[in-house]
Amino acid sequence: PPVAAVIPAAGRGVRLGPGAPKALRALNGTPMLIHAIRALAASRHVSLVVVAAPPDGAAEVKSLLDAHALPERTDFLVVPGGESRQESVKLGLDALPPEYGVVLVHDAARPLVPVDTVDAVIEAVRDGARAVVPALPLADTVKEVEPAAVAGDPEPVLGTPERARLRAVQTPQGFDRAALVRAHESVTGDVTDDASMVEQLGLAVVAVPGHEEAFKVTRPLDLVLAEAVLARRRL
Ligand code: C5P
Repeated sequence: PPVAAVIPAAGRGVRLGPGAPKALRALNGTPMLIHAIRALAASRHVSLVVVAAPPDGAAEVKSLLDAHALPERTDFLVVPGGESRQESVKLGLDALPPEYGVVLVHDAARPLVPVDTVDAVIEAVRDGARAVVPALPLADTVKEVEPAAVAGDPEPVLGTPERARLRAVQTPQGFDRAALVRAHESVTGDVTDDASMVEQLGLAVVAVPGHEEAFKVTRPLDLVLAEAVLARRRL
C-alpha cells in the first residue's frame, strides 16, 4: 500500500525560548519544518506528506511549502493542528485520502532523521508489523521518582529500571493505518507518542534501530547541535 506521512508541527516550542512556533524556526536559514518534510520525502516510498500546522499558521505554512524546493513526486497537504500533539496527529489522519494504507507520524522537531531510518520503519510495517518505532539504547541511567510539587525540590527515588532493557524512542513511527486510526478514536488520556496508543489497544509494537541524528530539537543547545550536523553533512 502507498505510504503517507503526518507531521505534527503545531507546537509552540516553549522550551526553546521565545520566538516563532518551533517548526518555523530556522536551522541554517531554512525552517525546521522544511528540513523535516525533505527528510521524509527523501524516501521514494513516501508519496504524501500532511502537515498539521499551528492553528493560526496554516496559510503561512502553505506559502513556506511553495517557497521551498520539494520533490515533485510527493504530494503535500496542510491542515490546522490542535491543542495537543495527539489532536494534531488526529487532524492530520482525518485528512488522509483512502488509498494510504501505511502511515508514518513524524515530529517536525526531528528535522534531521536520515532516510535509511525512514525506510527501515516503512519496511518493518510492510513486513507485517502494525506499529513500529525507531529506538536507541540509553546513555544515561534512568530513575523513577516521586515528582516534587515545586520544581527544583529534592525528589524521592522510587527505583531504577534495568538500563539494558530501556530504549529512547524517536520518530517517524510507522503504522498500519487502520490500527492507528482505531487507536486515535478510542484512546483518551495523555500520551507522548502514537505507538503507546496502539499498545493500549493490546496490539504488538516493535522497535527497529533508530539514529542519533533523529534527535528531537527541544532546548536551545539542540539548535547548536542540529546546525553542526547540517554543517558536517555539507562537507
Ligand atoms: O512538544 P513536543 O516536543 O513533544 O512536540 C513534538 C511534536 O509535536 C512537534 O513537532 C510539535 O510541533 C508537535 N505538536 C503539535 N501540536 C501541539 C503540540 C505539539 O503538532 N499542540
